Amino acid sequence: MRPLTRRNALILGGVGLAGVAVGGTGLLVTQKVSSPPTAASASGTELLEPLELHSTDGALAVTLNAAARQVTLAGRSVRALTYNDGVPGPTLRLRAGDALGVSLRNDLTDPSNLHVHGLHVSPEGNGDNMFVTVPGGDSFDYRYELPANHPPGVYWYHPHHHGLVADQVFGGLYGAIVVEDPIPIPASRDRLLVISDITVDSTGAPAAARATEKMSGREGALVLINGQLGPTMTARPGERERWRIVNACVSRYLRLRLDGHELALLGLDSGRFASARPVTEIVLAPGNRADLLVTVTGGDAALRALNYDRGTAGGMMGGGISPAGGDMSLATFRVAGETVAAAAAVPAQPTPRDLRTATVTARRELVFSMGMGGMGGAMMAPTINGRAFDAARIDETVQLGSVEDWLLTNTSTLDHPLHLHVWPMQIVEEGGQPVDTVIWQDVVNIPARSTTRVRIAFSDFSGRTVYHCHILDHEDAGMMGVVEAR
Ligand code: C2O
Ligand code: CU
Ligand code: CU
Repeated sequence: MRPLTRRNALILGGVGLAGVAVGGTGLLVTQKVSSPPTAASASGTELLEPLELHSTDGALAVTLNAAARQVTLAGRSVRALTYNDGVPGPTLRLRAGDALGVSLRNDLTDPSNLHVHGLHVSPEGNGDNMFVTVPGGDSFDYRYELPANHPPGVYWYHPHHHGLVADQVFGGLYGAIVVEDPIPIPASRDRLLVISDITVDSTGAPAAARATEKMSGREGALVLINGQLGPTMTARPGERERWRIVNACVSRYLRLRLDGHELALLGLDSGRFASARPVTEIVLAPGNRADLLVTVTGGDAALRALNYDRGTAGGMMGGGISPAGGDMSLATFRVAGETVAAAAAVPAQPTPRDLRTATVTARRELVFSMGMGGMGGAMMAPTINGRAFDAARIDETVQLGSVEDWLLTNTSTLDHPLHLHVWPMQIVEEGGQPVDTVIWQDVVNIPARSTTRVRIAFSDFSGRTVYHCHILDHEDAGMMGVVEAR
């Protein structure tokens, strides 16, 4: 049997078949449409957005009910995992300085919990505490206090119970959090695009992942925006839209393009550039978010996700497996109506902090590897510094108030996106080359057999939290460590 290689996947993608079962691996390559979906399919309806819940007078109190429910996904009825009966769950709109109270009610049969990805809040007590377990049938009251200088941007929430994260996110448990700008950014329209992927099995439930899929990180056959397959967005010529994009996929990298229109990136994650940066495409690793300005300068176009080569998990018995590849269309961008006048200028943004000249108090190296263990080498053992996650162990102790330099080394043949909770990372070196701009992210890619160097300011919040690969199958398999700031 021939192993599926990236090349095979691309060739299969190129013939434009709607669904191709690939020899032996059972991998289904679907949605290989590079032209906008037709109105005759389930797709083509206008993009819908999740319910929005806004804070008032500095507070937002919500109940999130995690439960399996029958919902419409990709135009069909699916028994998905939902927050408050939706996929995605409600969007929480906050301001710096707010207190967010979330009463999580777990109506799943499995344990779960909640993480507010990217928010700069305390990891202790009933804050963003990764060591809380909420058993099925139980509830837990979280309370998050956003500092008065919390950066604006797009964040998200999802479960974080070790061992079940990939299954629960793949099943539909995720939602967006927006921290508003102190000075509004003029745009004719704000859109939220929560991009996720899922495979639905013949019973109408999220498909279980095979061991081989978990090894490379599962990629769903359907890529959805706000739970819709191939929706349409309509705009008028000249308009400036603001798109907040969340990559909520378990393992899929999104290399996004919207050809013919002007794209300018305000920032990624909580990082914000001093001025919006013109781009032709953006790459979002799992967990990353983009805050993007789209100026309508062209005609109808497709929002496409282009093939991103994140390597292969090779050396397995039965051959290596390549993550599913190929270009696909995610949405139709329709331009219609009268031309509108250009939007007002984007207000200047604060100059981001630059740690390249900071005094470094400690240096560390984290080595990401996919060693083979057990069953004659047929099982993967994704580790950081040779160790699998242990909630009872503290892997790194950092001093509160310090600036640290972390060299992230990937010895494996797959990319790993490293995510650190609570404290964002400034990327200062990629593949040994210095980075000449200031880039802050909370998920940082470490390409296969390469290195990335970051700097982190542990300025505030003491306590224990985690860092991990945001390919959630890798996290669940142990590619996670514990950091304590004190
Ligand atoms: Cu988005 Cu530790 O997770
Ligand atoms: Cu996180
Ligand atoms: Cu990984």
